[in-house]
Amino acid sequence: MSCILVTGGAGFIGANFVLDWLARPDADAVINVDKLTYAGNRHSLALLDGDPRHRFVQADIGDRAAMDDLLARYRPRAVVHFAAESHVDRSIHGPAAFVDTNIVGTFTLLEAVRACWQALPDAARADFRFLHVSTDEVFGSLSATDAPFGETTAYAPNSPYSASKAASDHLVRAWHHTYGLPVVTTNCSNNYGPYQFPEKLIPLMIARALAGESLPVYGDGQNVRDWLYVGDHCAAIRTVLAAGRIGETYNVGGWNEKTNIDVVHALCDSLDALLPRDDGTSYRAQIRYVKDRPGHDRRYAIDARKIERELGWRPAETFESGLRKTIAWYLDNQPWVRDVMSGAYRHWMGLQYAA
Ligand code: NAD
Ligand code: TYD
Repeated sequence: MSCILVTGGAGFIGANFVLDWLARPDADAVINVDKLTYAGNRHSLALLDGDPRHRFVQADIGDRAAMDDLLARYRPRAVVHFAAESHVDRSIHGPAAFVDTNIVGTFTLLEAVRACWQALPDAARADFRFLHVSTDEVFGSLSATDAPFGETTAYAPNSPYSASKAASDHLVRAWHHTYGLPVVTTNCSNNYGPYQFPEKLIPLMIARALAGESLPVYGDGQNVRDWLYVGDHCAAIRTVLAAGRIGETYNVGGWNEKTNIDVVHALCDSLDALLPRDDGTSYRAQIRYVKDRPGHDRRYAIDARKIERELGWRPAETFESGLRKTIAWYLDNQPWVRDVMSGAYRHWMGLQYAA
């Protein structure tokens, strides 16, 4: 049976991707390899329990023997690489894991994939793809008047997270140019949607609003991000996997720039309508401006014209429709949220937000 190998498929975007992929009746099987760090959650894949097209394997992408074994056993036609340490604030507290997984782990995976790919028969070698999922944060920070990031914008990463992702992008590029590995890379803006770990802005604010806790907005709240609903990102990845040109990179974004305070206000207003606070006042009363993140990038913005022009992809959701779906999902899935807010989660909240 034809299959693809997905790394990090128990995380936020990976799980959404695997669920979307297998929702199509003609989909290839998925071998889902994930280390299950604090950010990986088997419950996010519960809808696939008993589905013979999904095989979950707990392993580290930095474990060469495990990667060799998986690739030899399943001979995937493609690898979609999501696995990473992904949270900027955690990268400031502890950058080592970001170097280990995002750089050394990607290197180890590339070497295992290269060996497997080189041994394929000619036709399978030509059809093979390695799709590397990356971020717009590799391009650094924009001023209010700068043009959005294009595919040729120079890399200028500012955080340990973005520096480690930039390094991984360079490795992927080099494995194509030097060894001919058929790679494609996507650089996407901020995602939101179901199954996102509540350390990132939108699910963190939903969880804290419902718990009656403060809503911590860093600095002046005027930092800008381009927000994309995760289902749209998954569709973009499927499109690039199917038709992206080998060796190319594609910027993926939502055409949806918002300041952080506008995002938090929109969330509060939606919650006011859906689940009013007991005292009848707005969730906005819980907003607190807190100390800024060190080195906080001011603005990210994506020019996503290349993927639209070449591959016909555009986001389907507006911010309003995506946010409605997201809030509804979190309200309907409180057991999932409670489950991930484990002891380790509380430890992180204490470390990051105690003051
Ligand atoms: P996430 O933190 O929710 O999930 C990461 C997953 O990778 C987890 O399941 C974790 O267990 C797994 N993992 C971590 N280290 C591993 C290792 N050494 N071996 C195997 N598995 C490991 O992250 P996400 O938000 O789903 O992001 C997925 C990818 O998309 C990342 O590469 C990230 O850089 C990129 N990306 C994320 C966003 C965003 O807004 N979240 C935007 C653009 C790009
Ligand atoms: P985040 O979700 O961590 O994504 P990234 O830093 O990768 O863009 O944060 C999104 C924005 O929200 C970013 O500008 C930092 C800000 N932010 C807060 O103001 N408060 C918070 O508690 C968090 C987690 C983020």
